[in-house]
Amino acid sequence: MAERIDPWGSVLIDDYNKIIENYGMEPFDKKILSKLPNPNRLMRRLVVFGHQDLGRIVDAIKKKKDFAILTGIMPSSEKLHLGTKMVIEMVKYFQEQGGKTFVLVADLESLATRDVPLDEAKKRALEFYIPAYIALGLNPKKTVFYFQSKNKKVRDMSVELSPRLTLNEYRALYGEPSAPKIISSLTQISDILFPQFDKVQPVVVPVGSDQSPHLRATRDVVRRYKKVDFIPPSATYHKFTPSLDGSMKMSKSKPNSFISIPEDPEKVAKKIMKAKTGGCDTIEEQKKVGGKPEECVVFELFKQHLIEDDKELDKIFKDCKSGKIMCGGCKKKAADIMKKFMIDFNDKFENAKRNISKLNILEFECE
Ligand code: TRP
Ligand code: SF4
Repeated sequence: MAERIDPWGSVLIDDYNKIIENYGMEPFDKKILSKLPNPNRLMRRLVVFGHQDLGRIVDAIKKKKDFAILTGIMPSSEKLHLGTKMVIEMVKYFQEQGGKTFVLVADLESLATRDVPLDEAKKRALEFYIPAYIALGLNPKKTVFYFQSKNKKVRDMSVELSPRLTLNEYRALYGEPSAPKIISSLTQISDILFPQFDKVQPVVVPVGSDQSPHLRATRDVVRRYKKVDFIPPSATYHKFTPSLDGSMKMSKSKPNSFISIPEDPEKVAKKIMKAKTGGCDTIEEQKKVGGKPEECVVFELFKQHLIEDDKELDKIFKDCKSGKIMCGGCKKKAADIMKKFMIDFNDKFENAKRNISKLNILEFECE
């Protein structure tokens, strides 16, 4: 497995190296990969490109010591995207390695930054986000859920931590500081530390690189907070799924290039049929010189989301390069798999929704 590291390359690789450097991450490479048992698709293919202190988690897995996984739901709009799918796949991986899982609803953050009332956030979480996370593979039986607004310990800690970061540090981390941003940041730092409140233990937070400032802030705070010897949080960072028009990141402002979850299966298939490929202008030319899978959005979808088997992915890569397969058939294959994914998601979602009353949701409000 180790030699298979990014054999398909990526035109975006320089950007990710820059992200690693600028954000002080460690590269997710062969070495760390070889230490992780049964790495999932995202890890094997280096879609997970960076990490922080993952060695601590590797160690806990190996020695069967306690560790925790934490992720947060921002209940802003009732749509997920492929990045959320990757977060859940990483949570699921660590969950299967024995980590205790915490999933929080960032209702204080959505109240402060998007003016979403708390009862509305609760409704969205229970009727949409949590069932959707379960449909994406989160094991609810092994997960503790909480709402930021109902977790007195997290709220108290966010106040206690407030003197540990200066306004200049906020500026460096998040750009121009504002009260909502500062409140949300302090709450998120407390969220990330919450699994350690009763007993210190390694915690891994799988995120897209946009969340890395929160992790850096938490690590800074941990260094300064002397009352408890918190372990600095670990993180994994995964790449963006490119937009169907070929730009780096999917954006909701371009709905024809954006795949959301859920989505009408027929519509999503149509969008994929219009995606930018790495193919040639004419079939004759492509048969002669081959396509460029490393510049192809459809191939990136196969690699990140649609094809589980490495050998099958390899074959598409080679057959594309040698001009054996053409983009029309290739897009159709991607569209069919994505359609199936959306249908399957809907079934699982409805099922999870029916069982929502069985969840383990923490309440500290009245303590
Ligand atoms: N800020 C996150 C978002 O916008 C939500 C969040 C809150 C979170 N607390 C967290 C994510 C802790 C990871 C860990 O989606
Ligand atoms: Fe992309 Fe497939 Fe066309 Fe190759 S054949 S460029 S992988 S769509």
